[in-house]
Amino acid sequence: MALRLGDIAPDFSASTTDGPISFHNWMGDDWAVLFSHPKDFTPVCTTELGEVARLKPEFAKRGVKVIGLSVDPADSHTQWAKDIHETQGHALNFPLIADADRKVSDLYDMIHPNANDTLTVRSVFIIDGNKKIRLVLTYPASTGRNFAEILRVIDSLQLTDKHKVATPVNWQNGDDVIIVPALSDEDAKKRFPDGWRTVKPYLRVVAQPK
Ligand code: BEZ
Repeated sequence: MALRLGDIAPDFSASTTDGPISFHNWMGDDWAVLFSHPKDFTPVCTTELGEVARLKPEFAKRGVKVIGLSVDPADSHTQWAKDIHETQGHALNFPLIADADRKVSDLYDMIHPNANDTLTVRSVFIIDGNKKIRLVLTYPASTGRNFAEILRVIDSLQLTDKHKVATPVNWQNGDDVIIVPALSDEDAKKRFPDGWRTVKPYLRVVAQPK
């Protein structure tokens, strides 16, 4: 069955470019971004992995570990990593799962046979510190992902976990946010003593809480 938001991310053991891992142990108390790419030595994937390597400090700042996956073996990942460094200017600095037996791909439903029956699609799972799945994204092989968007979602999730707010369309960290409808005006006054702007009774805009 497909994995859904709020499900516990299935645990697994796998070999990676950083050696064998047990997924939940590897995460520890951190969040994780688990993402698949279709194949080693392919152009779009090469750019994506270089970008994730560049952004690794941004993920780390948010307490998030990143881990990639494809159905290629570990020695292929290691060879390809040289090309990623050479062409993207960033060395691979996070593990890539070598899922040649498709164990993890099947567990996370990363192979969509009507798109391609052997290669993984571009899946993304954001998993929180309680091992709950908080976001699922699926992109086709031909479209590279926007990892700034993944960071934006993490910022929204971590903010909205702490405060009774939600983030509006195209929100960026620091922008105004929305008071959740479940919070009465009376309770909102206690949480947001500096006030808010009521556009409609269900649309109350407030400065992003610190
Ligand atoms: C790529 O990463 O460039 C790619 C992989 C599989 C199919 C198409 C493109």
